[in-house]
Amino acid sequence: MTTPGRLDGVCAVVTGAGSGLGRAITERFTAEGAHVLAFDRSEDKLIALTEDLGDRVRAVTGDVTRYEDNVRACEAALDWRGRLDTFVGNAGLWDFGRSLAESDPEDLTAGFDELFAVNVKGLLLGAKAAFPALRTSRGSLICTLSNAALYPRGGGPLYVASKHAGVGLVRQLAYELTPEIRVNAVAPGGMATDLRGPSAMGLAATSIENAYPVKDLMRTVTALRIDVEPEDYVGAYVLLAARRESATVTGTVIDVSGLGTPPRPAEA
Ligand SMILES: NC(=O)c1ccc[n+]([C@@H]2O[C@H](COP(=O)([O-])OP(=O)(O)OC[C@H]3O[C@@H](n4cnc5c(N)ncnc54)[C@H](O)[C@@H]3O)[C@@H](O)[C@H]2O)c1
Repeated sequence: MTTPGRLDGVCAVVTGAGSGLGRAITERFTAEGAHVLAFDRSEDKLIALTEDLGDRVRAVTGDVTRYEDNVRACEAALDWRGRLDTFVGNAGLWDFGRSLAESDPEDLTAGFDELFAVNVKGLLLGAKAAFPALRTSRGSLICTLSNAALYPRGGGPLYVASKHAGVGLVRQLAYELTPEIRVNAVAPGGMATDLRGPSAMGLAATSIENAYPVKDLMRTVTALRIDVEPEDYVGAYVLLAARRESATVTGTVIDVSGLGTPPRPAEA
């Protein structure tokens, strides 16, 4: 007899599903019985994902900053499964920690527009596109934020401000969309992924994985001192997508970053 999955019968849209955390969420959701409509701007990543995960995943290529692309993803999920239970707004850009002093005014102006368009407007437009179907299913909206949504130092001012804005969005949407839709966020910490930055700041050509020894950094700066993989963060998404496990949870940010508590100094 097979054990029932925590997400049996669930149909989810995951944005930024092509790599890193979004891919890890998609893998875990399908392993827990869900069907996932994977939405990413990279067609190549989506082809690899669907080849690897088979018929529990379908893909839509599009840009989260465009409302019509978000609608296309939600409609594809509805056409496929007849319902949409969970929308995970996960696509994001980083600013590679570029400080105010290091940024010229053009960086700040064009970088703001590009980064906030993905990290904030993308969540807002995704929520707007998913909202009618989530209301019908009494579903769950889950946003990927960051340690940078709660603490300084997880990026420069653009990224940290964008992720803090996500907290406001989650709180307001939880208030507006209750009682039908639960709205929450997960705040992961650093991961070695393909995370890129705004092209307007010259930060699109490399990834966090190539630019920084993220795993080594995380081992030294988190309280628990573990080697972190994207899949280590996905349990909170399963919890928030599974209504029977989080029926009372809305308007919260689950901090899974391990960065809220500084590591104890090593024993002398
Ligand atoms: N990597 C980290 O250290 C870290 C830490 C905390 C939070 N996060 C957050 O995790 C989320 C996922 O990032 P990741 O690290 O897995 O990076 P990633 O680059 O591996 O995954 C992000 C995906 O989003 C897609 N994407 C980017 N812009 C898009 C757009 N406009 N429309 C559609 N798709 C788009 C990319 O193609 C990519 O596949 C982001 O919100 C990021 O801010 C990452």
